Order: sequence, then C-alpha cells, then structure tokens
Amino acid sequence: MKGIILAGGKGTRLYPNTIVVSKQLLPIYDKPLIYYPLSVLLLANIRDILIISTPEDTPNYQRLLGDGSRIGIHIEYAIQDCPKGLADAFIIGANFIGNDSVCLVLGDNVFYGQHFSGILQQARKQAEIGGASIFGYPVKNPREFGVVEFDSNNKVLSIEEKPENPKSNYAVPGLYFYDNDVVEIAKNVKPSARGEIEITSVNNVYLKNSKLDVVLMGRGMAWLDTGSPKGMHKAGSFVKTVQEMQGFYISCIEEIAWRRGFISTEQLHEIGENLKMTDYGKYILSLREE
Ligand code: DAU
Repeated sequence: MKGIILAGGKGTRLYPNTIVVSKQLLPIYDKPLIYYPLSVLLLANIRDILIISTPEDTPNYQRLLGDGSRIGIHIEYAIQDCPKGLADAFIIGANFIGNDSVCLVLGDNVFYGQHFSGILQQARKQAEIGGASIFGYPVKNPREFGVVEFDSNNKVLSIEEKPENPKSNYAVPGLYFYDNDVVEIAKNVKPSARGEIEITSVNNVYLKNSKLDVVLMGRGMAWLDTGSPKGMHKAGSFVKTVQEMQGFYISCIEEIAWRRGFISTEQLHEIGENLKMTDYGKYILSLREE
C-alpha cells in the first residue's frame, strides 16, 4: 500500500503565521506538524510515501525529510499548483499509486491513542481486500466536517460534507484507505458548490457501490484540531502534557521507524547523536537502552 500526505493549502485561518511558512511545518510543541500524519503512515506499516504541497513549500519539506532513507522509508514529492480539493491528491498521485491501494492522510491531522495501530491495520486490510475505509469520530461540532451516518451494525447509511443538519455527531477525520479504484473515481468527480473536488464525493461513490466501511474511533483516541491558533496551542499543550507525564513521545518518527524495524539501533543512535542538544534527541538516544 502507498501513502499520500496532502500538505498544501494556503493556511489563511492561521495568518500571519502561515504567510511565509506552510501550516504543516509549524510546530506542535516540539516537532513539525507533518511529523504527526507521517507517523500515522509509519504505524500503518506504509513506507512508500508521496508528499504533496505548494510550489513554494515543497522545497522545505524536501529539506526536512529528504528521500526518507534516514528513517528507512521512501519519500517522493509532488506539487499542487492551487488547492483544488482533497480528491486532487489521487489525480496528482496517479503515477505514484500505480496499481496499488492507497492511504491518504491530511497533513494537518493529529491522532493519538491506545490501539491506534490495530485500528489502522483493520482499515488497511479492508481497503486491500477491495473498497474504502474511513473513520468516524464523535464531535460536538459536526457541521464543520464530513459527517458519516451508520446503523447499529456500523453499516454506512450516508456521508455528507459540512451538512447544515448533521445526521450524526460522527465527523470523518482526514485519514482514508482506498483500493486502486480511487484514482478513476477521483478523475470523474465533479467540483462541489465551493469549487473543490471533494473527498466526500469520492466516498459517496464507494457508498453507492456498497464498498464503504467505517471504523469508529472511541474515547481512547484523541483527534486534535489544528485549524486555528487556539487549536494549535491546545494540541501543543496536549503533546507536552502526555510526553511529560508518560515519558513516551507522541509521533516521534524515528522511534516508530526503529520499533517497526525500518532502521537499526545503530542508525537510531546516529540520528539521536545529531539531535542530542534537544530533549527530542535525548529521548531518541534513551530508546536504545530499552
Ligand atoms: O479534517 C477533516 C476534514 O477535512 C473532513 O472532515 C472533511 O470531510 C474534509 O473535506 C476536510 O475538510 P476541511 O474543510 O477542513 O478541509 P480543508 O479545505 O481545510 O483542507 C484540509 C487540509 O488539506 C488543509 O491543511 C489544507 C490541505 N489542502 C486542502 C485542499 C482543499 C490541500 O493541501 N490541498 C487542497 O486542495
């Protein structure tokens, strides 16, 4: 399975912070925002990754993450000239996806919680068999998201983008698993009233074909909002608090790569040595003592 991180957009809701810096490069406490969605792909055991961003910001992602070999993965880059919609990721990424299945994660979505790896494996398996897997997460403000309605057997009944009268309080987070059909489906999606090719329209095609599966995220999962300065600040505080309380770091990509066996203990040590002036680097160095 391939992975795509969509990290474009103008970030206008965070101006002036994002006038010259891409939103997904801003820090959430001690690491750039993109580390969080990148760690989701690593947890799903996805090592072939495409990062899509703007013409101005893509070189910065390249400087930050390179070709991924440092953490035992393969990263490619592609440019989105202007924000045409989330489904554009599959059109831009068509060659990269090839005949494979694919996971899309939005570059500004932060997840953390128990059993997350298990949840990811479940969704991945479903898409590999054929079809699409999305997630449902209970929120107080469903109008601001894609909203999924389902019956008592978790069978999806409807999915709507930012509905005025939501049929449930389950938002669809920016994390989606698809079989290879997604490329053709995305190419045929018509722009919505707001002029975007919506991921919700793609999901509706899967629903019509009875191939849309929803995995519910429960109380043990945190899906953090990064849509405003307040949300970014709260997310940073959350990460700081959990890391200080538990001693485990959230979304340390080097740790995940090491635990998944993508890099050796020697490689991990070398990365830690280069960062040892920071608590982040010291944490990486402490891991090999385990
Ligand atoms: O975060 C989850 C929500 O994301 C879902 O519940 C919605 O169904 C989905 O449509 C999306 O809603 P938003 O309105 O929040 O998406 P937004 O336009 O803010 O884009 C999300 C991120 O993707 C943002 O960081 C910018 C980036 N982006 C967006 C578009 C439309 C791109 O890189 N390229 C794009 O073309």
